Amino acid sequence: MPRQLERLYEGKAKRVYRTDDPDLYLVEYKDDATAFNGAKKGTIQNKGVLNNQISGVFFRMLEERGIPTHFVELVSDREMLVKTLEIVPVEVVVRNIAAGSLAKRLGLAEGTVLSSPVLEYYYKSDELGDPMINDYHIRALGLASPEQMERIRDIALAVNSIMLEYLADKNIDLVDFKLEFGIHKGAVILGDEISPDTCRFWDKHTREKLDKDRFRRDLGNVEGAYEEVFKRLTGKSFS
Ligand code: TMP
Repeated sequence: MPRQLERLYEGKAKRVYRTDDPDLYLVEYKDDATAFNGAKKGTIQNKGVLNNQISGVFFRMLEERGIPTHFVELVSDREMLVKTLEIVPVEVVVRNIAAGSLAKRLGLAEGTVLSSPVLEYYYKSDELGDPMINDYHIRALGLASPEQMERIRDIALAVNSIMLEYLADKNIDLVDFKLEFGIHKGAVILGDEISPDTCRFWDKHTREKLDKDRFRRDLGNVEGAYEEVFKRLTGKSFS
């Protein structure tokens, strides 16, 4: 196990540490929750532990199916080892069902099934509030090369197909999700996390929300929803 060195970065939900292995970072998941670009703040009890384990399950499952990710291994309740990344400052959102900002922007009822997946890009900038951008902005601003974006698009859509099928089996509808990518040793790989913080999960039958929208919209039982996702993925109850 590599030795933890200094903190490189602290975000809204995670801290990243350098290690004595130049190819590995240590990521620590926090219980802090924010929404609306940090305007709403709170704590979700055990979120860090749950999101670390949930992300671990998804990354492992995706790696088994050929998706390159930064995940190496879980090292404690709320920490995982990952490959070092030079992050591409683009948030990639994939949507299967209209919700959130898409429902609002296009005047669609939340829950409208999209006839094909929708891919969106947002420029990662807290200062600007993550504005939506397209391939032309990404190219003109030099955020990533066209070849890197082609790879990112292909991986994002493959992750969507794999996750849709995997989650259907757990009686979860994958409404939408956000991915981040980075470059490791010249190759584009999937980074960040995959959790109820970054995905919308609805119960297939009741359509109950099992994700961070419970926090964003003050729906109550936030911890219970994250625990339910953990239980459906691992078959174990969280205690
Ligand atoms: P949106 O409908 O608010 O644009 O969100 C789309 C998806 O992206 C949803 O699953 C939540 C996720 N998301 C993040 O992970 N981080 C963010 O900062 C935002 C705005 C959304």
